[in-house]
Parts: sequence; structure tokens; C-alpha cells
Amino acid sequence: MKKIIIAIDGYSGCGKSTTAKAVAKKLGYTYLDSGSMYRAVTLYFLKNGINTAIAEEVVVGLNTMEISFRMDPSDGSQQVYLNGVNVEEEIRGMEVSARVSEISKLPEVRSALVKKQRELGKEKGIVMDGRDIGTVVFPHAELKVFMKANTEIRALRRQRELADKGQQISLEKVKDNLESRDALDSGRKLSPLKKAADAVELDTSYLQFDEQVSRILQLAKERMN
Ligand code: DC
Repeated sequence: MKKIIIAIDGYSGCGKSTTAKAVAKKLGYTYLDSGSMYRAVTLYFLKNGINTAIAEEVVVGLNTMEISFRMDPSDGSQQVYLNGVNVEEEIRGMEVSARVSEISKLPEVRSALVKKQRELGKEKGIVMDGRDIGTVVFPHAELKVFMKANTEIRALRRQRELADKGQQISLEKVKDNLESRDALDSGRKLSPLKKAADAVELDTSYLQFDEQVSRILQLAKERMN
């Protein structure tokens, strides 16, 4: 069976990351959460007071930061490091979530991260999730999945995830953040969130997690032959 690239794109909070992670584990593939890279850049820019209206500052910021991934040996989970420091928890907070779409529309940020993502996927055998993986990063990916789900359901799921991490956020606030990110991510000029013409659409509103994973695995197996 040949190694393939699986691109999973879709709206915020439809379970792309957890699904992609489970698919990668089943196939023995690498998993890459491209959103975590945009989140790490956002955290770095916020901490260092980068003025995003000045392209030179953005470029200097990008050149002074290094994003890497390491596995947590205790549970095998992938952890994001920013200049050698584990920022996995910090990048998931509301402060970063509120600013990430604005920062991810900057052309300098997109070209730097897309380059890194292509580099990380060049050997194939990878599941990458994000917004533009099937349209821009890997337009020739063997399998493209586009995930969507009802907003209320997505907000409830995201609120539960944040609560599990100790952040109590109102449903209204979580929903507002999801809706505004969807609008910004879909409306931006550069690589907007949209379904690739050859992507398989998966509405996860009423799907059980295991069903989501097995549908993608089924499609993956077909494409590997
Ligand atoms: O997947 P996520 O919700 O953690 O992503 C956070 C933000 O990063 C998302 O709102 C838009 C941006 N992003 C992007 O522009 N392109 C990607 N491939 C992945 C994420």
C-alpha cells in the first residue's frame, strides 16, 4: 500500500484535530495540527508586542521564533514548542483564539507556515488538519476531507474541552468566537477556508466520534490502493 497525504479541513470546532489524530494513530502516520502553528505565531506576536501592521516587524518576528513538535512520552500526545518552551496549553486559551484569525491572514505568516507544512509532509504518510491543507498546502493530496457541523453543537463541544482544561467560558462567548473565526477564515483574501472541489464532505453534527474516524479510514484505504 502506498503512503498518502490526508488533508482534513473545515470549520473551527468540528473535531478536526481529534479525528485527524485518531486516523493518524490507526494508520501509523504522522499527525500535524497546522492550526497549532498559527496559534504559536499568535502567542509569540502577542507576547513580544509585534505590530502586525508593519510587515518588517512581522518578518523579524517570524525569523526569531522557532516552532517544533515533540511527543509527550507519558501519553504519546503531540506537544507544540515555541523557541524550546512547551506552549501546548497556552495556545489553546481564549486570548490566542481571539486573535489567531487576524494574524493568520497576514501573507508573511501564511507563506512561512505553508513552506514548513510542505516540508513536514514531503515524505507523505501524514494526516494534516487546518483550513487550506487541501486547497493550498497539498492540492494534490490523495484524500481530502472537509468537515462541518452545526454551530450550537460545535460551541458545546468546544466549551466542554475548555472546561476540561479549567477554563469556564460562557456558551455565548465560545459561540461568538467560533462564528467570528469562521467568518474571518472564510472571508480572507489569501487561502480562505473553503471546500476543495475534490474533497469529501463530512457533517459531524450527529456522527459518533468512532464513525467519523472509520469513514475517513475507509476512504484512506481506498486511496492507498
Ligand atoms: O485549527 P484551529 O482552530 O486551532 O486553528 C486556529 C486558527 O488558525 C484558525 O481560526 C485559522 C488559522 N488557521 C489557518 O488560517 N490555516 C490553517 N491551515 C490552520 C489554521
